[in-house]
Amino acid sequence: MFAAETPVDHSPLSAATPVRYTPGVQHPGAPDGRGWFITIEGPDGAGKTTQADALADHLRRDGHDVLLTREPGGTWLGERVRNVLLARTPTTAATDPMTDAILFNAARRQLVTEVIRPALAQGRTVICARYADSTLAYQGYGAGVPLDRLRALQVMATDGLEPDLTFLLDLPVEAGLERKAPGDVTRFEAEFDLAFHRRVRDGFLALAAGSPGRFVVIDATRATIEVATAVNTTADRLIESGEPKAYAARTT
Ligand code: TYD
Repeated sequence: MFAAETPVDHSPLSAATPVRYTPGVQHPGAPDGRGWFITIEGPDGAGKTTQADALADHLRRDGHDVLLTREPGGTWLGERVRNVLLARTPTTAATDPMTDAILFNAARRQLVTEVIRPALAQGRTVICARYADSTLAYQGYGAGVPLDRLRALQVMATDGLEPDLTFLLDLPVEAGLERKAPGDVTRFEAEFDLAFHRRVRDGFLALAAGSPGRFVVIDATRATIEVATAVNTTADRLIESGEPKAYAARTT
């Protein structure tokens, strides 16, 4: 479940369904020290939602106080921006990719300030399905917005908050797109071609190669349980080590 404190709606594109969000943390700043910030990235249909749920359950069983959220979304405002960004509606003009990037980052800023930073300050472990790497992969590598402009936006949105650990669930784009249920197809899957999605996948892999201290690349073509074991084991090692930056990029 994404928002630990609220029921989860897995049909974000339907206007009729209630919008889910993670309520703001009510008592920020309790313990000293910061919680772990873990993100899960990957092409469409890689299984991020399933693996984020499984990792949260796993860490909770080990006694961790976990906050599970997602992008775009995770706040009242963010879930509304999500509906605007992902809805497949007829438009008079294609959406400019920089417009997309600004909107994704607007939702991101609200999530970081309202939810993620306060939770980390309380010592909670935050798991977020998609984060800033998705904008670099989709709007940057995929749609061609210069990466330096996107990185500048990202700094504005996050004030420099980076994950301690990022899982890249990697799989061929055809395999990921085939996994999507017809009712769960977003504008990005419906309106962008295979070449776009291949650039996105390659972009994620390039980002992983460029930040070996943060990324762990996971082969997501395997059975869900095998992927979950790889994710959980890696997260356990990170948390036990207490040294997030000691991690090297690798395929698990
Ligand atoms: P999501 O529900 O994460 O899809 P999936 O389950 O297939 O991963 O949908 C989010 C869509 O938005 C996805 O197609 C990727 C896209 N996206 C961007 O283009 N840029 C971003 O910064 C983010 C966070 C998502």
